[in-house]
Amino acid sequence: MKPLSADEIVKMREACRISAEVLDRTCNFVKEGVTAYDIDRFAKQTMAELGCTSPCIGYKPSSSTPAFPRYICVSVNEEVIHGIGTLERVIRDGDIVSLDVVTTYNGFVGDNTRTVLVGNVSPEIRKLCEVTEGALYAGISAARAGNRVSDISRAIERFVKPHGYGIVREFCGHGVGRSMHEEPQIPNYYSRGEGKTKLRPGMTLAIEPMICLGSRLINTASDGWTITTRDGKPAAHYEHTILITDGDPEVLTVLS
Ligand code: MF3
Ligand code: CO
Repeated sequence: MKPLSADEIVKMREACRISAEVLDRTCNFVKEGVTAYDIDRFAKQTMAELGCTSPCIGYKPSSSTPAFPRYICVSVNEEVIHGIGTLERVIRDGDIVSLDVVTTYNGFVGDNTRTVLVGNVSPEIRKLCEVTEGALYAGISAARAGNRVSDISRAIERFVKPHGYGIVREFCGHGVGRSMHEEPQIPNYYSRGEGKTKLRPGMTLAIEPMICLGSRLINTASDGWTITTRDGKPAAHYEHTILITDGDPEVLTVLS
């Protein structure tokens, strides 16, 4: 992506703050007994209240993919990403629920994700969530001007590796700004010869580790969207949109 100008950064900051607010309010709505569909409806209503829209609903990345039918992604337990909230999926004590919220405001896109722990989550799964959030911050720490995309990827992989978790390889972080998905792609693992793009001040990136308690292998559900772990074990997902600066990275998807 082309680095944003100072004026564009002001708008991007505002768009990301609003996206963070939608995510935060929707996370607070998640509790035992609500359905994944209810969660999506709540997010829709919150977006309307805050005057932003969802670039996800109706999104069709290829002719063979059905249009995404929801406002946000709600992924429960073994669902890794892109979960389509249904009335059948009732949230239960001990579940983990990843909410991926992307919103557009005044022409700019904010993208952020958090995994919500519902009630008594087992220590093993709690740890998975902590490590995934830690991996996100490890990636953010490497997001400095002069570094390359591969530095972010390596930092995430190094943080996760000692825990033996699976790192999803088929989906990546990405540039984000005037559209939801821009160059460069940001894998959550290092691969020699890739991720050469240099980070420059004004670039805005979505960094988003997707980490599995067990194997990294995934399936796509028959709905054409929901990504699940093949072994049925849970996965966690955390994401922020950040700004590359001359100094420390600025996390944009935060409440002010
Ligand atoms: N944050 C997700 C991503 O970066 C959101 C995609 S939802 C979709 O891919 F429906 F729009 F695909
Ligand atoms: Co994203």
